[in-house]
Amino acid sequence: MKHLLKLEDWSTEEIINTLNLADQLKYEQKHGIEHKYLKGKTLGMIFEKSSTRTRVSFEVGMTQLGGYPLFLSSNDLQIGRGEPVEDTARVLSRFLDGIMIRTFEQSEVEALAQYGSIPIINGLTDYCHPCQVLADLMTIREFKGKLEGLKMCFIGDGNNMMNSLIVGALSTGMSFSAACPEGYMPPEHILEFGKKYGKDKFEIVTDPIEAARNADVVYTDVWASMGQEEEKKIREAAFAGYQINKELMAVTNSECMVLHCLPAHRGEEITADVFEEHANEIFEEAENRLHAQKAVLVECMADEKPEH
Ligand code: CP
Ligand code: NVA
Repeated sequence: MKHLLKLEDWSTEEIINTLNLADQLKYEQKHGIEHKYLKGKTLGMIFEKSSTRTRVSFEVGMTQLGGYPLFLSSNDLQIGRGEPVEDTARVLSRFLDGIMIRTFEQSEVEALAQYGSIPIINGLTDYCHPCQVLADLMTIREFKGKLEGLKMCFIGDGNNMMNSLIVGALSTGMSFSAACPEGYMPPEHILEFGKKYGKDKFEIVTDPIEAARNADVVYTDVWASMGQEEEKKIREAAFAGYQINKELMAVTNSECMVLHCLPAHRGEEITADVFEEHANEIFEEAENRLHAQKAVLVECMADEKPEH
């Protein structure tokens, strides 16, 4: 059974195949070509955190694939009142054909897969955001025509986004640099993942300008993620200066892309002028959530895979 629990579970070949399928599904959707590869299938979508893009893109994507998306808020499920995930997994597996879950603990997603008997897709945890990174890689390929040999630079928190970007970029032949304040680095095993690629390919520093030098893509995310609202003030102080702005863009390669998973806080991790200058890239990236996730849904849930 194929799940998407975290990106490091997928090989480079699986990632590239999914990006190719995503391109095909985008083409089919834009040209009105029917692609109901999940006819009659139901996807449960468990949300224990807020969402605009993930919820809407999975719901619309499932519908376009001929299936049915079922929104399940943890406020309404018994899971929100303490029913064990092991039991929820075994019950939902008898009704549904797949589950997308957005939650806090990565271990909850892993437990759903362990106890359930249907594909599980991670729609964001505190640890990672694999669906977002597939859409990001798809967008970079679309604008740059390749991934191999490009340099991605992340400015900000060593959080779920950065963890998945490290895996996604390095697995597809990009090099990766980041600037994080002391105390906000990614977890040790992600650093170990990166170090295996060597110093030429993977570097984390504290100086944003040093990290951004000769970048082909710069990426940022909010300073305080969902669940960290109480740390907002402390984080504003820690991340001051960790911003994508004109000065930072000046040291990147010409034609450097700017990506942001959204939602964005203008004046914090990115200035309004740089955001607007790169809005076509950022909103194509948001749209590509739909196409990339449709590819993930087909890869994990379809009885028969389309030729691509
Ligand atoms: N980027 C992203 O996952 O957006 P949502 O939180 O709106 O789903
Ligand atoms: N790091 C952010 C990403 C939102 C898509 C969060 O977890 O809130």
